[in-house]
Amino acid sequence: MDNFSKKLIAWHKVSGRSGLPWQNNRDPYAVWVSEIMLQQTQVATVLERYPRFMKRFPTVKKLAAADIDEILAEWAGLGYYSRARNLHACAKQVMEDFSGKFPSDPLLLMQLKGVGRSTAGAIAAFAFQEKAPILDANVKRILARLFAIEGAIQEKVVNDRLWDLATELLPRHSQDMPAYTQALMDFGATWCTSRKPVCITNEKKCPFSRDCQANLSNQVLALPQKVVKAKSPEFDCNMLLIRFDNTVLLQKRPTTAIWGGLWSIPESPWKPRSAGLGKPHTALKTLLEEALPDEKGPVLLESFGGLKQGQQIKHIFTHRRLWMQIWEVHSLKPVELTSPHFKWVPLNQLGRYGLPQPIKLLLQGLSLVRGGGPKS
Ligand code: ADE
Repeated sequence: MDNFSKKLIAWHKVSGRSGLPWQNNRDPYAVWVSEIMLQQTQVATVLERYPRFMKRFPTVKKLAAADIDEILAEWAGLGYYSRARNLHACAKQVMEDFSGKFPSDPLLLMQLKGVGRSTAGAIAAFAFQEKAPILDANVKRILARLFAIEGAIQEKVVNDRLWDLATELLPRHSQDMPAYTQALMDFGATWCTSRKPVCITNEKKCPFSRDCQANLSNQVLALPQKVVKAKSPEFDCNMLLIRFDNTVLLQKRPTTAIWGGLWSIPESPWKPRSAGLGKPHTALKTLLEEALPDEKGPVLLESFGGLKQGQQIKHIFTHRRLWMQIWEVHSLKPVELTSPHFKWVPLNQLGRYGLPQPIKLLLQGLSLVRGGGPKS
């Protein structure tokens, strides 16, 4: 295809997104943070959270030296917390292996924790004007349509072909790389969208309408071909909201679990929804045995009382759906728990802890959490 990059850059000047806080910034640290945050989070949310994150951790050195709990607390609500743990690990890698300076070579960038080939390309292009291609889901869609590529994009041959095309289409001059890369992202996100591309809605005139093989053969909505996904499985769990005076019992989650490393309230193991959770009125004894299996049940039972069935909250993960049944429990004293993963946290300090979004909302609803961000 002729002049693809020139046409795309021209399109961006008129119709692309501009003035976003991470654009026109050549600092690789700033570029890297924005790319990781934008990976699975809407631009509107990143607009709000990115400046705050950069203010809190203005350099890779400060991020590397920070406590993971601080980073997770700042990341709370953005989801996909492995990104925050990878950010920390990556910052340390940059300090230790690259003397605090991000490398410009995409192959070296790819060695950093949490940085895949496309993100490495984006950082190299934005921060160093390297002629490195990107290939995120939006770009895959654009290319699959332009070249009418058949087959699911998850297939290796299809993916390899798309990387080849992404490389062939790069602009000739490296100084065009930042504008080109941003244009590609914006074009996929706003014009060549999955369900309502402008060529179908007829709202706007696509600059590639006469080049696009999918458009010319009426296959735009059929490409890229989708693999039919099974509905994600559903689970139930019980969660214990245990309060003593103005404190609540929190538990630090294992790093490998969902919401890894965040603080939450004790929960029972998840059960497949079809199996049910047993009788609607679960006894406190059973709940404690399930949610606090390593603690001494009789000791807990002596201090805990006032079991009350609270809300049921549904939370949708990428591959799972979870129904959380909240049980409110009142404790007569701040019982000491044997596991170091538990902590009685004063309500006015909850903002300092990284909490899963639904749990944060639950506690906010009970007027337990003040404000949003961490406070000192
Ligand atoms: N998604 C990933 N990176 C992006 C960027 N730089 N601009 C807009 N959306 C993006």
